[in-house]
Amino acid sequence: MKLVFATNNQHKIKEISDITPSSVKLLSLTDAGVNEDIPEDEPTLEGNAMFKARYVHSRCGLNVFADDTGLEVYSLRGAPGVHSARYAGESKNPSANIDKLMSALKDKADRRARFRTVIALILDNKEYLFEGIVEGEIIPERRGHDGFGYDPVFVPDGFSQTFAEMSLDEKNRISHRANAFSKLLTFLSEITEKQ
Ligand code: IMP
Repeated sequence: MKLVFATNNQHKIKEISDITPSSVKLLSLTDAGVNEDIPEDEPTLEGNAMFKARYVHSRCGLNVFADDTGLEVYSLRGAPGVHSARYAGESKNPSANIDKLMSALKDKADRRARFRTVIALILDNKEYLFEGIVEGEIIPERRGHDGFGYDPVFVPDGFSQTFAEMSLDEKNRISHRANAFSKLLTFLSEITEKQ
Protein backbone atom coordinates (compact mmCIF):
# COMPACT_ATOMS: atom_id res chain seq x y z
CA MET A 1 0.00 0.00 0.00
CA LYS A 2 1.22 3.50 -0.82
CA LEU A 3 1.10 5.80 2.19
CA VAL A 4 2.29 9.39 2.26
CA PHE A 5 4.12 10.54 5.38
CA ALA A 6 3.45 14.30 5.31
CA THR A 7 7.02 15.37 6.00
CA ASN A 8 10.33 16.03 4.28
CA ASN A 9 12.28 15.74 7.52
CA GLN A 10 14.92 13.11 6.69
CA HIS A 11 15.50 12.26 10.38
CA LYS A 12 11.85 11.34 10.77
CA ILE A 13 11.63 9.44 7.49
CA LYS A 14 14.69 7.41 8.50
CA GLU A 15 13.29 6.72 11.99
CA ILE A 16 9.95 5.59 10.60
CA SER A 17 11.08 3.69 7.51
CA ASP A 18 13.30 1.57 9.81
CA ILE A 19 10.16 0.18 11.49
CA THR A 20 7.76 0.13 8.53
CA PRO A 21 6.85 -3.32 7.14
CA SER A 22 7.76 -3.92 3.52
CA SER A 23 4.06 -4.12 2.51
CA VAL A 24 3.78 -0.35 3.11
CA LYS A 25 5.49 1.90 0.55
CA LEU A 26 6.23 5.09 2.42
CA LEU A 27 6.28 8.28 0.33
CA SER A 28 7.60 11.67 1.45
CA LEU A 29 5.87 14.94 0.53
CA THR A 30 8.32 15.38 -2.35
CA ASP A 31 7.64 11.81 -3.55
CA ALA A 32 3.91 12.65 -3.51
CA GLY A 33 4.50 15.86 -5.50
CA VAL A 34 3.44 18.20 -2.69
CA ASN A 35 6.11 20.86 -2.60
CA GLU A 36 4.55 23.82 -0.80
CA ASP A 37 4.98 24.72 2.89
CA ILE A 38 2.01 23.50 4.91
CA PRO A 39 0.82 25.91 7.64
CA GLU A 40 1.11 24.70 11.26
CA ASP A 41 -0.94 27.38 13.00
CA GLU A 42 -3.46 25.30 14.94
CA PRO A 43 -3.50 25.60 18.77
CA THR A 44 -3.14 21.85 19.45
CA LEU A 45 -0.98 18.95 18.23
CA GLU A 46 -4.16 17.15 17.13
CA GLY A 47 -5.29 20.20 15.13
CA ASN A 48 -1.94 20.62 13.38
CA ALA A 49 -1.61 16.93 12.50
CA MET A 50 -5.15 16.74 11.07
CA PHE A 51 -4.76 20.01 9.17
CA LYS A 52 -1.58 18.70 7.47
CA ALA A 53 -3.14 15.33 6.63
CA ARG A 54 -6.23 17.01 5.12
CA TYR A 55 -4.08 19.46 3.18
CA VAL A 56 -1.93 16.73 1.61
CA HIS A 57 -4.93 14.51 0.94
CA SER A 58 -6.66 17.37 -0.88
CA ARG A 59 -3.56 17.87 -3.06
CA CYS A 60 -2.65 14.29 -4.02
CA GLY A 61 -5.67 12.14 -3.11
CA LEU A 62 -3.46 9.40 -1.61
CA ASN A 63 -3.82 7.81 1.81
CA VAL A 64 -1.75 9.98 4.13
CA PHE A 65 -0.68 10.46 7.69
CA ALA A 66 0.81 13.51 9.35
CA ASP A 67 2.39 13.86 12.75
CA ASP A 68 2.89 16.71 15.17
CA THR A 69 5.04 16.50 18.27
CA GLY A 70 5.56 18.69 21.27
CA LEU A 71 7.81 18.64 24.30
CA GLU A 72 5.48 19.20 27.26
CA VAL A 73 7.25 20.32 30.45
CA TYR A 74 5.11 19.87 33.55
CA SER A 75 6.42 22.84 35.58
CA LEU A 76 5.98 25.08 32.52
CA ARG A 77 2.31 24.05 32.24
CA GLY A 78 2.92 22.06 29.08
CA ALA A 79 5.20 24.56 27.29
CA PRO A 80 6.79 24.60 24.77
CA GLY A 81 4.12 22.09 23.61
CA VAL A 82 2.65 22.86 20.21
CA HIS A 83 5.23 25.69 19.89
CA SER A 84 8.26 23.39 20.37
CA ALA A 85 9.84 24.03 16.95
CA ARG A 86 9.49 27.83 17.23
CA TYR A 87 9.97 28.18 21.00
CA ALA A 88 12.85 30.67 20.63
CA GLY A 89 11.63 32.26 17.39
CA GLU A 90 10.65 31.75 13.78
CA SER A 91 14.15 30.57 12.76
CA LYS A 92 13.33 27.21 14.46
CA ASN A 93 16.86 27.02 15.85
CA PRO A 94 17.22 23.88 18.02
CA SER A 95 20.13 25.25 20.02
CA ALA A 96 18.31 28.54 20.77
CA ASN A 97 15.23 26.51 21.75
CA ILE A 98 17.30 24.51 24.26
CA ASP A 99 18.86 27.72 25.64
CA LYS A 100 15.39 29.18 26.19
CA LEU A 101 14.24 25.98 27.89
CA MET A 102 17.29 26.00 30.18
CA SER A 103 16.48 29.59 31.23
CA ALA A 104 12.81 28.79 31.81
CA LEU A 105 13.78 25.83 34.05
CA LYS A 106 16.61 27.59 35.91
CA ASP A 107 14.72 27.96 39.20
CA LYS A 108 12.37 24.98 38.87
CA ALA A 109 12.85 21.93 41.07
CA ASP A 110 10.53 19.85 38.89
CA ARG A 111 12.18 19.15 35.54
CA ARG A 112 9.83 16.37 34.45
CA ALA A 113 8.67 16.45 30.85
CA ARG A 114 7.22 14.29 28.15
CA PHE A 115 7.33 14.14 24.38
CA ARG A 116 3.88 13.65 22.89
CA THR A 117 3.29 12.73 19.25
CA VAL A 118 -0.09 12.83 17.58
CA ILE A 119 -0.60 11.14 14.23
CA ALA A 120 -3.58 11.97 12.01
CA LEU A 121 -4.39 9.37 9.38
CA ILE A 122 -6.69 9.70 6.39
CA LEU A 123 -7.36 6.25 5.00
CA ASP A 124 -10.02 5.62 2.37
CA ASN A 125 -11.45 9.07 3.20
CA LYS A 126 -11.91 8.29 6.91
CA GLU A 127 -9.99 10.17 9.64
CA TYR A 128 -8.20 8.66 12.66
CA LEU A 129 -5.93 9.93 15.48
CA PHE A 130 -3.15 8.06 17.35
CA GLU A 131 -1.01 9.23 20.27
CA GLY A 132 2.42 8.23 21.59
CA ILE A 133 4.07 9.50 24.77
CA VAL A 134 7.48 9.10 26.39
CA GLU A 135 7.98 10.46 29.90
CA GLY A 136 11.33 11.73 31.15
CA GLU A 137 13.34 14.62 32.50
CA ILE A 138 15.15 17.71 31.19
CA ILE A 139 18.75 17.66 32.41
CA PRO A 140 20.66 20.91 33.00
CA GLU A 141 23.41 20.28 30.41
CA ARG A 142 23.52 19.02 26.81
CA ARG A 143 24.79 15.47 26.29
CA GLY A 144 25.28 13.55 23.02
CA HIS A 145 25.43 14.40 19.34
CA ASP A 146 22.85 12.16 17.66
CA GLY A 147 19.17 12.91 17.15
CA PHE A 148 17.68 16.36 16.74
CA GLY A 149 15.63 19.04 18.48
CA TYR A 150 15.62 18.68 22.28
CA ASP A 151 17.29 15.23 22.22
CA PRO A 152 20.53 16.37 23.95
CA VAL A 153 18.67 17.45 27.12
CA PHE A 154 15.95 14.78 27.37
CA VAL A 155 16.55 11.63 29.45
CA PRO A 156 13.68 9.15 29.16
CA ASP A 157 12.45 7.40 32.34
CA GLY A 158 14.38 4.22 33.15
CA PHE A 159 17.52 5.34 31.23
CA SER A 160 20.63 7.35 32.07
CA GLN A 161 21.45 8.45 28.52
CA THR A 162 19.83 11.34 26.70
CA PHE A 163 18.04 10.63 23.40
CA ALA A 164 21.06 12.22 21.68
CA GLU A 165 23.38 9.63 23.28
CA MET A 166 21.27 6.70 22.09
CA SER A 167 21.50 4.93 18.77
CA LEU A 168 18.54 5.35 16.46
CA ASP A 169 17.58 1.74 17.21
CA GLU A 170 17.48 2.39 20.95
CA LYS A 171 15.50 5.60 20.51
CA ASN A 172 13.08 3.85 18.15
CA ARG A 173 12.33 1.21 20.76
CA ILE A 174 10.91 3.74 23.22
CA SER A 175 10.27 7.06 21.50
CA HIS A 176 6.98 8.96 21.41
CA ARG A 177 6.95 8.85 17.60
CA ALA A 178 7.76 5.11 17.43
CA ASN A 179 5.02 4.52 20.02
CA ALA A 180 2.41 6.49 18.05
CA PHE A 181 3.60 4.94 14.80
CA SER A 182 3.35 1.39 16.15
CA LYS A 183 -0.30 2.12 17.05
CA LEU A 184 -0.79 3.31 13.47
CA LEU A 185 0.87 0.17 12.07
CA THR A 186 -1.20 -2.14 14.30
CA PHE A 187 -4.33 -0.37 13.09
CA LEU A 188 -3.26 -0.64 9.43
CA SER A 189 -2.53 -4.37 9.71
CA GLU A 190 -5.92 -4.99 11.39
CA ILE A 191 -7.70 -3.09 8.61
CA THR A 192 -5.74 -4.92 5.90
CA GLU A 193 -6.57 -8.32 7.46
CA LYS A 194 -10.31 -7.49 7.39
CA GLN A 195 -10.24 -6.53 3.72
P1 IMP B 1 7.51 17.93 14.79
O1 IMP B 1 6.06 18.15 14.94
O2 IMP B 1 7.89 16.48 14.77
O3 IMP B 1 8.12 18.73 13.66
O4 IMP B 1 8.19 18.44 16.10
C1 IMP B 1 8.13 19.78 16.52
C2 IMP B 1 9.36 20.08 17.33
O5 IMP B 1 9.39 19.25 18.50
C3 IMP B 1 10.67 19.80 16.60
O6 IMP B 1 11.07 20.91 15.84
C4 IMP B 1 11.62 19.56 17.76
O7 IMP B 1 12.01 20.79 18.33
C5 IMP B 1 10.73 18.86 18.76
N1 IMP B 1 10.84 17.38 18.59
C6 IMP B 1 9.96 16.56 17.94
N2 IMP B 1 10.37 15.28 17.99
C7 IMP B 1 11.53 15.29 18.67
C8 IMP B 1 12.45 14.26 19.04
O8 IMP B 1 12.30 13.06 18.77
N3 IMP B 1 13.52 14.68 19.74
C9 IMP B 1 13.74 15.98 20.08
N4 IMP B 1 12.94 16.96 19.75
C10 IMP B 1 11.83 16.63 19.05
